[in-house]
Amino acid sequence: PSAALDLKDAILRLKKEKNAVILAHNYQTGDIQDLADYVGDSLGLAFRAKETDADVIAFCGVHFMAETAKIVNPSKTVVLPDKDAGCSLEESCPGPELEAFLEANREKNYYVIAYINCSAHVKALCDVICTSGNAVRIVEQAPPDRPILFVPDANLGSWVMEQTGRKMDLWQGSCYVHVEFTRNSIQTIKDEYPDALVVAHPECTEAVRLLADEVCSTEKMVSFCKNAPVKNIIVVTESGMLHRLRKEAPDKNLIAGPTDRCACADCRFMKMNTLEKLHDCLEKLEPQVILPEDIRSRAEAPLLRMLEQSK
Ligand code: 13P
Ligand code: SF4
Repeated sequence: PSAALDLKDAILRLKKEKNAVILAHNYQTGDIQDLADYVGDSLGLAFRAKETDADVIAFCGVHFMAETAKIVNPSKTVVLPDKDAGCSLEESCPGPELEAFLEANREKNYYVIAYINCSAHVKALCDVICTSGNAVRIVEQAPPDRPILFVPDANLGSWVMEQTGRKMDLWQGSCYVHVEFTRNSIQTIKDEYPDALVVAHPECTEAVRLLADEVCSTEKMVSFCKNAPVKNIIVVTESGMLHRLRKEAPDKNLIAGPTDRCACADCRFMKMNTLEKLHDCLEKLEPQVILPEDIRSRAEAPLLRMLEQSK
């Protein structure tokens, strides 16, 4: 335990020395969340990254999130514990493939909406970005006279179509973690806790979303659980969320949604970050997010539009 305390102290010392802020996503391990200055969803983290006056942003999440911080606040040094922490959604939509698709479908004059879980290259090709926290609002503000192409998450896209009644063409990407939850795995845990409410992330499949009482972003799960009128709540998303929820809603019995194979679901990318790696990236200021300025500035415009449209 004393080695762990030393490590935490060393991180806090380095944070002060480098005038750094530590931002962490809700799926990070508990030890990282407990040390962070701010823990939240992709939308909250993008706002925080833009507003910070620290010199260094140590971003504990996955690569596209740290990259987003650099895009909206380029004068800061943005470091991340592990540069290989990717995302299956980002992988499912490579920039060159989207570019070729848009070129082949030029006559359609698509209004392109990209879920924030994508590369800077993809962001640079689209009109506006959304997160799971504001997707409905962003789609509602799309020009009514243009067809929408929604990339890369087909599950989030179909949920937004249900919510808004707006038809969209969907890129066929998915999150490898959230598609592991099945109708069978969630119905089984519901049968075990018949009075429980179910909250699920919109990256889940439609079959799973249909079993949920609420479908929302990770940040909205916090207020849902705090205000729920029942004690038992089944949380259908990545397991790191449970740490945050148990801290914020200590009176609730929060049950991890199981998959057919496991009692809960972990994102291997989110879990690549450790306190040791956080320490090292603060000490060495490596790995850093570095972006060519033309890509950065083209990716910034749709992100700023998103921040504006979600106020
Ligand atoms: P949130 O924006 O809801 O936190 O989701 C991010 C994510 O990666 C979900 O898998
Ligand atoms: Fe990407 Fe899914 Fe991991 Fe979120 S949980 S970072 S969408 S792979």
